[in-house]
Amino acid sequence: MGISKPSPAFSFLLIFALYFSFYTITPTTSSASLQDQFINCLHKNTHVSFPLESTFFAPAKNVSMFSEVLQSTAQNLRYLTKSMPKPGFIFKPLHESHVQASIICSKKLGTHVRVRSGGHDYEGLSYVSEIEKPFIVMDLSKLRKVNINIKDNSAWVQAGATVGELYYRIAEKSRVHGFPAGLCSSLGIGGHITGGAYGSMMRKYGLGADNVLDAKIVDANGKILDRKAMGEDTFWAIRGGAGGSFGIILEWKIKLVPVPNTVTVFTVTKTLQQDPGNKILSKWQMVADKLVDELFIRVIFNVAANNGSKTATTSYNAVFLGNKGVLMKVMNKSFPELGLTPKDCTEMSWLESIVYISGFASRTPTKVLLQGKSAFPKNNFKAKSDFVKKPIPESGLKGIFKKLLKEDNPMMIWNPYGGMMAKIPESQIPFPHRKGVIFKIQYVTNWPDSDRRASRHIKWIRDLYSFMTPYVSANPRQAYVNYRDLDLGQNKKGCKSTINQAQVWGASYFKDNFKRLVKVKTKVDPNNFFRHEQSIPPMLVQN
Ligand SMILES: Cc1cc2nc3c(=O)[nH]c(=O)nc-3n(C[C@H](O)[C@H](O)[C@H](O)COP(=O)(O)OP(=O)(O)OC[C@H]3O[C@@H](n4cnc5c(N)ncnc54)[C@H](O)[C@@H]3O)c2cc1C
Ligand SMILES: *[C@@H]1O[C@H](CO)[C@@H](O)[C@H](O)[C@H]1NC(C)=O
Ligand SMILES: *[C@@H]1O[C@H](CO)[C@@H](O)[C@H](O)[C@H]1NC(C)=O
Ligand SMILES: *[C@@H]1O[C@H](CO)[C@@H](O)[C@H](O)[C@H]1NC(C)=O
Repeated sequence: MGISKPSPAFSFLLIFALYFSFYTITPTTSSASLQDQFINCLHKNTHVSFPLESTFFAPAKNVSMFSEVLQSTAQNLRYLTKSMPKPGFIFKPLHESHVQASIICSKKLGTHVRVRSGGHDYEGLSYVSEIEKPFIVMDLSKLRKVNINIKDNSAWVQAGATVGELYYRIAEKSRVHGFPAGLCSSLGIGGHITGGAYGSMMRKYGLGADNVLDAKIVDANGKILDRKAMGEDTFWAIRGGAGGSFGIILEWKIKLVPVPNTVTVFTVTKTLQQDPGNKILSKWQMVADKLVDELFIRVIFNVAANNGSKTATTSYNAVFLGNKGVLMKVMNKSFPELGLTPKDCTEMSWLESIVYISGFASRTPTKVLLQGKSAFPKNNFKAKSDFVKKPIPESGLKGIFKKLLKEDNPMMIWNPYGGMMAKIPESQIPFPHRKGVIFKIQYVTNWPDSDRRASRHIKWIRDLYSFMTPYVSANPRQAYVNYRDLDLGQNKKGCKSTINQAQVWGASYFKDNFKRLVKVKTKVDPNNFFRHEQSIPPMLVQN
């Protein structure tokens, strides 16, 4: 993996207190009676009633209903197979006080909790624990109020709302307001913003996490805290330090940003034959991060069957915050090699551009954003990420295409940086991938349930990742925490995390900010109540 040496700056002050052993008290009771005890405890700790039929889901009661709820928002089918550990039960709070009571009660009963907002975690960490048994899932899908305040350009959004719902509700109030978060409409705002949250307006406005004004969380003691009550250190940590480490986000207060009346989108696809010598792709690498901030052009790599043989395609998929005429001028000046024509471009509202860039078929009504649905069918997938700081030479590009053509269903997305992303200092929030990044790579491979060769696909993506080493960031090799990757630090599932492992993924996801995250964690959750395979570990400070 090329990054195994922990920096001395970390090692001298940290002793990780065998942190997964704190709560491994396995209750002797069965999970059915664990649920009864939990319900009794909840009754004592909240005044708001919760009808059991619509809030508690356990396999003992109705296994098909339980599976339905477990699967409802889970995005990675790889983590729903029979052999994956299942929660003892799922609880869906209806009220913020239920979340508070759940923390108090799970502490009392010594049971491990996973929290789920939109269920998009790449490694299923919001609904599978491979490190502790029993565990329960708190699913926030019933806490999804969105409260837009156009007058002061802000909104309060509960954790269980999707980004699609948020965008729809904003557009309902105003055509010229928006929010710069994720592209896929089914993402849960709760987990999404905790790791950064990028979308097609990142070059203009930064990340979702860069545009948070306030938040309400439930801490490890079951207390509700807003920004003022949690303090600036914790407020810093939750905006990019990733989910499941510091508390449970109940709601975010976000800053709305201006969007124009008309935006323009296009997708131009080239086969390998249509881009001989990768001239267009090489030019994209030169300009992607330097274009006007209003223009976001990502490149999506696919493999398509072509008359019996396979060919790779590159799709230049773009959103421009402005009209077609201005876009044509910008492209003619900065990226004429793509050969964009007015016919390739479609003008629309910002909300319609969300539906477009999410991947829904053209003319899908914007109401689809309220359905909590992704444009893509769920499948088994494994993904990884990289950050690129100097253009990849032709030899590298050739090697990449060769590898892509060997896999059944590969995808790669190159996502441009620059603009506002390069202006925000690395330590402003825990998300550190800023100045100097030209683009981020996401590698994905997916396969259907009928394909029993999961390990073959995983091996393929690890090989590609290893091939990419000379072309991407190093020391540390950076990665996006919202593209959770349990390979980092070779943290095999089921193994206890060690100091070295945490330092490897900590540096990849957060660079120097990892140290401050550990400090905040130590202050707000020293007993490590909020934990998972890659949660921020608390430390003991050596005197
Ligand atoms: C199809 C797809 C498309 C994506 N597109 C984008 C994109 O365009 N831009 C981008 O930035 N990312 C994207 N992502 C990644 C996405 O941002 C992360 O997976 C994110 O964590 C999802 O949040 P969630 O609430 O849906 O997930 P969940 O699985 O519910 O949660 C993710 C993590 O956060 C924790 N968590 C959940 N809710 C809370 C809460 N309320 N408080 C504290 N911790 C919590 C969970 O325990 C888990 O560890 C995409 C993912 C998928 C699967
Ligand atoms: C179990 O749940 C399913 C829905 O998944 C429902 O159709 C069925 O009636 C339930 N069975 C019982 C016994 O409640
Ligand atoms: C497909 O391949 C066959 C045989 O190589 C060739 O004759 C035919 O013209 C090809 N068709 C297209 C559309 O390229
Ligand atoms: C592009 O710009 C050149 C001059 O810089 C001009 O001659 C040409 O017509 C422009 N093409 C388009 C499509 O705007």
